[in-house]
Amino acid sequence: MKPIKNIDIIEIPKITDPRGNLAIIEKEVLPFAIKRVYYLYDVPSTSFRGGHAHKEQKEFLIALSGSFEVSLTDGKQKQTVTLNKPNVGLLIGVGIWRELENFSSGAVCLVIASDEYDENDYIRNYDEFIEYKNQSS
Ligand code: TYD
Repeated sequence: MKPIKNIDIIEIPKITDPRGNLAIIEKEVLPFAIKRVYYLYDVPSTSFRGGHAHKEQKEFLIALSGSFEVSLTDGKQKQTVTLNKPNVGLLIGVGIWRELENFSSGAVCLVIASDEYDENDYIRNYDEFIEYKNQSS
């Protein structure tokens, strides 16, 4: 299967130290200026989060603690990424439907976003997403 364009796994620069590691997101690590940070925590293992795509907003997801799976599709190709390292993140570009599931106990999903919250930027219905992709391709 072809990989999805518009997503990327990015390793976050870190300073390892016997006292504990330090990971840094600055400068050119992300291809956008950071406008918002939010996080999911206390997520039941049976929960599904996400279930939407964005028109303009890009997001970078990190499992700060624990693990979870992100299922992605551009409407044609599908891919699942497991995030389980605090120094590796998933960059999701525009026009990608994502679903998050299988959260481990204690998992924290940090999301770094290129825009402030705007409900108008969301596509929350899968059929509408497919229609949107067909129109824009
Ligand atoms: P939702 O998009 O369903 O979260 P997720 O994709 O992580 O499962 O958002 C849940 C609710 O929170 C929804 O009513 C929108 C609101 N919300 C904000 O008000 N601000 C935000 O920055 C985010 C991400 C969500």
